[in-house]
Amino acid sequence: MPGPLEDELGDVLEKSRDGKGWTQSDLARAAGVSASDISRMERYEYVPDESVLKNLAKVLDLHAPSLIAVAKETWSPQPIEPDPGPFTTVCLDLFVGAYPVKCYLVVCNATKACAVIDTGGNPEAIIKKAKELKLQPEKILLTHAHFDHAGGLELLDTTYNCPAWIDKKEPRPSGSRDFRFLQDGETIKLGNLNIEVLFTPGHTPGGVSYKIHDSVFSGDAIFAGSMGRANSSWSGLYNSITQKLLTLPDHTRLFPGHGPATTVGEEKRHNPFFSTSH
Ligand SMILES: [Fe+2]
Repeated sequence: MPGPLEDELGDVLEKSRDGKGWTQSDLARAAGVSASDISRMERYEYVPDESVLKNLAKVLDLHAPSLIAVAKETWSPQPIEPDPGPFTTVCLDLFVGAYPVKCYLVVCNATKACAVIDTGGNPEAIIKKAKELKLQPEKILLTHAHFDHAGGLELLDTTYNCPAWIDKKEPRPSGSRDFRFLQDGETIKLGNLNIEVLFTPGHTPGGVSYKIHDSVFSGDAIFAGSMGRANSSWSGLYNSITQKLLTLPDHTRLFPGHGPATTVGEEKRHNPFFSTSH
């Protein structure tokens, strides 16, 4: 079984309330439960019974069986089959303080050309792993500028002296001497690999996902069983996920910035925000 999901019931309720512009009291009124119960759910202190969860799902337009599974922790995605494409993905489980975040090394098998996808706040661990694997990263690809994803930029920049790609609409993190700005749909070469750029804003104004073969590195857009926090635009993020990510073939692997890897098919079946399965 992969690691625990990034989000629990409380996160899903808060994020879906956010999509409707509702306060906890608004949700309590709509679902016929007390505001203090909603508050306890969002503080991870209380999981109500199925009938209440079904009612919450109904008023929040969530998929009830998926919400129940997240709330009762009975679902997590199947372990991911390795992508058959000509590259290797190394997932680094790092911590920024006590908070876990995932960064990735992507390596072209034929040429050993290597890119770092997100630098985390713990660049020493990335450098150590690259050294262990005898890799010399030549590109830094940022999904967004939050510190837990881009905090290690300066040390990686000075260690590898390589450019960092980011969307122009994203606030500029400090640390790179050579920023390159992305275009939606463009292709970045890494050895023999083509990395496709998918703009997936909403968590932040310039959120980006990177697609290599059948794998997508999606930052904080979607999580297994949930979605990112819509700091920039809830409808923008929802559209990014439904129009850019979940339209990919079901077997497409999704590697989020937090929580376990998943697939498009798994999320279409089990994500409370996006599942329509019966
Ligand atoms: Fe983030």
